[in-house]
Amino acid sequence: MKAVILVGGQGTRLRPLTLATPKPMVPLANKPFVSYVLEHLKEHGISDIVFSMGYLPEGIKAYFGDGSGMGVNLTYVVEDQPLGTAGAVKNVEEHIQDGDFLVLNGDILTDLDISGLIEHHRRKEAMGTIALTPVEDPTAYGLVRTGSESEVLGFLEKPSWDQIDTNLINAGTYVLRSEVLAMIPAGIEYSFERGVFPRLVGKGLYGYSSECYWMDIGTPEKYLQAHYDILEKSVETSVSDCLDQDFVCVQGKIDLKTGAKIVPPVIIGEGTVIEAGARVGRMAVIGPGCTISAGCVVEDSIVQENCTLEREARVRGSIIGAGASIGAGTLVDGGAIVGGNSKVGGDNILTNHIRIYPDTTVKAGTIKF
Ligand code: GTP
Repeated sequence: MKAVILVGGQGTRLRPLTLATPKPMVPLANKPFVSYVLEHLKEHGISDIVFSMGYLPEGIKAYFGDGSGMGVNLTYVVEDQPLGTAGAVKNVEEHIQDGDFLVLNGDILTDLDISGLIEHHRRKEAMGTIALTPVEDPTAYGLVRTGSESEVLGFLEKPSWDQIDTNLINAGTYVLRSEVLAMIPAGIEYSFERGVFPRLVGKGLYGYSSECYWMDIGTPEKYLQAHYDILEKSVETSVSDCLDQDFVCVQGKIDLKTGAKIVPPVIIGEGTVIEAGARVGRMAVIGPGCTISAGCVVEDSIVQENCTLEREARVRGSIIGAGASIGAGTLVDGGAIVGGNSKVGGDNILTNHIRIYPDTTVKAGTIKF
């Protein structure tokens, strides 16, 4: 079966991390996020994959090539303009054969039983089957109502509490019959959620609900949470084995100086230097090629590749983009994001979800936010 992965979105909610890097290439535990999607598909025997792209496609192509490095066969289709989720699939129609095919949003970390989803779809002889996942706060999402035979009865967009009779949402993974392509207008923006699926209600649209792990990594909070879940092994990924029993994963040779402290769970990329008196963890992912200087603290945070943290910099609950440097004594806390290649001088305080754009220079002692 072929799979289409939608990776054309701009990822605005994850800015500034997605200003120069498309969301699928934003690293998760030091690997491009979408490589987890490819690994998951492969585990379920799906290796013919089409990337439906739009925003910043070049980096994805350059990294994955024909897919042989990951044991999959990749095809790339780039849109001239954003076509929405369904329009994007229509745009790759020539690569889809008759029969069933899969569609996946490219920003979801999940251990969904894709084989179970396909089996359910076939047992029901469905036109389309939507993977469903339960959420704690149903008011924040579009809900999917299903009947006793798992048939989809309707959709509720961001309902109030008195309207709520289900906590199941669309998990962004579908199996569709190729006939569905005829329902999608070509060349214009069209969505599955608002266009195709409401029209398929009562005409062979089913849901497949399961209690799998499911995380849409599209916001900084959820992107951080996905890291925490990988670190705690709440979700099984290709990094889980490396974390082993002691929950410390070192991805190659690192330079851990005597007197440096590692507090699990942590993941540390190759070539990183951690100096005496620095503390990394708990809950930290450090990219390759970083320098964490004496007296630094990194916890509940992500530091992407090639960053430098100068003496006594502290990073808590925050994200440091690739190639950034954080000056001595600076505090980065409370959901802050420092964009890639930025230079933050010493003695700044960056908190309250502040977002520093990539390539920005912040002079010493100028921000106390
Ligand atoms: P935000 O701007 O933060 O909402 O992120 P996004 O642009 O990724 O949008 P959203 O999270 O709603 O998209 C869900 C999935 O569909 C993501 O994997 C997107 O890359 C993908 N997607 C959204 N719109 C398009 C589109 O017009 N074309 C293609 N090919 N993919 C899309």
